[in-house]
Amino acid sequence: MTSYKILAISGSLRAESHNTALLRAAQQLDTGLDIEIYDRLRSIPPYDFDFDSPQRRPAIVTDLRDRITAADGLLIATPEFNYSVPGVLKNALDWASTDWTRTEGVPLAHKPIAIMGAAPTQFGSVRAQLALRQVFLWTESDVVVKPEVITFRSHERFDDAGNLADETTISLLTGLLAALSAKIDRAARTEPEAALANR
Ligand SMILES: Cc1cc2nc3c(=O)[nH]c(=O)nc-3n(C[C@H](O)[C@H](O)[C@H](O)COP(=O)(O)O)c2cc1C
Repeated sequence: MTSYKILAISGSLRAESHNTALLRAAQQLDTGLDIEIYDRLRSIPPYDFDFDSPQRRPAIVTDLRDRITAADGLLIATPEFNYSVPGVLKNALDWASTDWTRTEGVPLAHKPIAIMGAAPTQFGSVRAQLALRQVFLWTESDVVVKPEVITFRSHERFDDAGNLADETTISLLTGLLAALSAKIDRAARTEPEAALANR
């Protein structure tokens, strides 16, 4: 059986980011998912409507959109900045939320997505995760609801080498990936029916 392809995006550019470390932990779990971590977020230019068309889009944005479209699902780990989603992450998602010429499709539309987050505070990114769920309402993305992976006091959950060393978080992360997998399964089963219904 071919494993599902997951594009994983961390909202933190920090070298020792706990959010990126969560994505690396997800890669190492035995879930059967093929998880690739996106590593070009730093270079995505600010969203500009004047350049958001198939002819004018920056190559790195086209690449991001293509990779989201090609993925069976997304896994997003977000820090919390000022009670919300870091600007770099929101900016990249904005670029993947459009199809002004109605010729390409919206990369994020109906995409199965799992959200998680980490912060050293007591709230562990919970408000950023809610803000991210709100972003995916407009795009009609298919977001996993539970389990919620809210990695509060994140500095206590990794060992000195940056590996996830907290059993509770490992268990929640495993559950989240299983839920994402199940969501992709369901989408694969219902899509042909939806296609027929739209004829
Ligand atoms: C500009 C800025 C704003 C922040 N605002 C919040 C916040 O509102 N709530 C919170 O829990 N942590 C906040 N933090 C702390 C981040 O959650 C913390 O830096 C987090 O670990 C970043 O994730 P990373 O380890 O993946 O880099 C803020 C940090 C920065 C740099």
